[in-house]
Amino acid sequence: MNRVYNFSAGPSMLPVPVLERAAAEMLCYGESGMSVMEMSHRSKDYEPIIEAAEAQLRQLMNIPDNYKVLFLQGGASTQFAAVPMNLIGRTGKADYVVSGQFSGKAFKEAQKLGYDVKCIATTKDDNFDHIPTVTPDMIRPDAAYVHICFNNTIYGTKYSYIPDTGDIPLVADMSSCIISEPVDVSKFGVIYAGAQKNMAPAGMTLVIVREDLLEYAEEKMPTMLEWKTMAENGSMYNTPPCYTIYVAKLVYDWILSLGGLDVMKEMNVKKATLLYDYLDSQDYYIAPVKKDSRSMMNVTFVTGDADLDKKFASDAAAAGLKNLKGHRSVGGMRASIYNAMPYEGVQALVAFMKKFAAENPKA
Ligand SMILES: Cc1ncc(COP(=O)(O)O)c(C=O)c1O
Repeated sequence: MNRVYNFSAGPSMLPVPVLERAAAEMLCYGESGMSVMEMSHRSKDYEPIIEAAEAQLRQLMNIPDNYKVLFLQGGASTQFAAVPMNLIGRTGKADYVVSGQFSGKAFKEAQKLGYDVKCIATTKDDNFDHIPTVTPDMIRPDAAYVHICFNNTIYGTKYSYIPDTGDIPLVADMSSCIISEPVDVSKFGVIYAGAQKNMAPAGMTLVIVREDLLEYAEEKMPTMLEWKTMAENGSMYNTPPCYTIYVAKLVYDWILSLGGLDVMKEMNVKKATLLYDYLDSQDYYIAPVKKDSRSMMNVTFVTGDADLDKKFASDAAAAGLKNLKGHRSVGGMRASIYNAMPYEGVQALVAFMKKFAAENPKA
């Protein structure tokens, strides 16, 4: 078996110990005589799995008791509609910060639903190369919530601060940075994230929502999008994404066994520093993101020559460094170095980058 270093933005690498454990338990989980894939979600074997997943995530993220943890389906994109439908009833209007493609999609989805939503800040004119500064005076005092995307997967930017929204709930899409470092959950009204980057295979969406915000859902909204219904049913109003939740639990186990999110952050900082330090030390590659907005999870760079960029991604793939091509909308390269990417993977990438630069001089 020859595993590669997979720099995919998502679905992405999972920790090897997690895959090994899932493999070992594939045919028979515990004494159950069956795979977790085959279990009823309401069985005595499965219920402890989802309960442990929630308990471990609460421990890992230090989630206060007045927050509900929901394991849903539909991807983060479904939450682009669910967020306004669940929250706009608070005041009837909401504010959005557009710092990249996904926050733009979230904003457009709320617009499409006919709500009074306002983009209060964007860095679109700068190709989203940094995170906007959001100050309290920009926010409409009667906004039901302020929506941000905490880490912009495509552009490789991340908030280095939590915007101060006063009493107005802050809603954050954390799909590409969830459980990569500690965050103060109490500073947010809602945090949501697709699982397929840092938590599990695709198929599960995590929603962490402050309890008092469960009261504002639209009367006529689809039941499946209503957080209150999901919260009252322990994420089991219908069949939850059982197997993905099980793998997420294995991932939470793995992080806890390493020492939790402080340790995870240390490991992630070490990896990102290695790559950014190299990028800053030379002039063959250009890192377009402003330094104060750099993502620790998605590192973007270009050579400045589209043909060389293309060659870079294909030569790297041939050398066992896969999926380094940037998002189709921006080009260039992107190295997604989520929790499961080992330090050695980033070392191998930097060594490859040096070799490629030496062997492919620019015209
Ligand atoms: C920050 C962010 N938000 C939302 C999405 C969309 O997620 P999903 O595919 O789970 O709908 C992605 C996907 O890459 C993402 O990176």
